[in-house]
Amino acid sequence: MLSPTYKRLTQKSDLTSVCMTVMHVPNLVWVVIEDAGEKTKLVTNLLKRCRVTSVHLNIPTSDFYRKDPSKPRGVEQRNAGLSWIRDHHTKDDCNGVVYFGDDDNSYDLRIFDEIRKTQKVSVWPVAFCGGVKVEGPECENGVVARWHNGWGATRKFPIDMAGFAVHLCLLMAHPGVVTGKDSNGKPSKSGYLESNLLEQVIDRNSLECRGPSDEVMVWHVKTTTPYIPHEQKNPSNPNIEV
Ligand code: UGA
Ligand code: MN
Repeated sequence: MLSPTYKRLTQKSDLTSVCMTVMHVPNLVWVVIEDAGEKTKLVTNLLKRCRVTSVHLNIPTSDFYRKDPSKPRGVEQRNAGLSWIRDHHTKDDCNGVVYFGDDDNSYDLRIFDEIRKTQKVSVWPVAFCGGVKVEGPECENGVVARWHNGWGATRKFPIDMAGFAVHLCLLMAHPGVVTGKDSNGKPSKSGYLESNLLEQVIDRNSLECRGPSDEVMVWHVKTTTPYIPHEQKNPSNPNIEV
């Protein structure tokens, strides 16, 4: 599981929640990629405490993405994670599934059992994204019957990053495929990251629907910035890590 992360007030809270979840998942490698020039103490210590096999990487977001808030987030971090995974596997040693699990989502443990069943690409709906209660595939007999979206229905794969998983052998068979580029090698437009990645490795008819059809297993929570208006005139102990 690849999780980009960056410094903000809720970072530790978000990463702690994800850690508490993935600690219950057998055979999971948690690749955490900090959007930072150097690895921070906060994340380093959190990963040491977290009883899961983890890989800690860092890469700062380049000016290309950082200077334009309408550009997609976490791109270079996910690509650093993908490079690490590719460097540690071969086409013949690719038994695994890659899941892009952002640090601010909530995950039901059952999603990890579903991810494990992936042959090529698994998909499922995600709650609270795309401006609707549930976004993603609506499945019948294990295949996508239709998609439900609040926007961007023209996307070939109108699905959130947390709504799919890709078998590692498929990624190893497409060594040039990274996130943030479309099939012509052009930078992904905002909201097109997921679709641009999937269209390079699979066709729509080959998607594998996973999970129950009457509930979601991932919530796109998007933690809001805490309201702390008195902090400036009444500063909290700077020695307490929050
Ligand atoms: C939605 C999707 O769920 C993301 O997968 C997608 O990357 C994003 O849109 C996008 O626009 O690119 P959203 O909740 O809006 O997600 O984005 P964030 O959760 O703020 O960021 C996605 C990931 O990138 C997170 O893991 C976050 O920690 C990381 N991130 C975000 C950075 O590493 N650096 C940043 O400056 C911002
Ligand atoms: Mn998010």
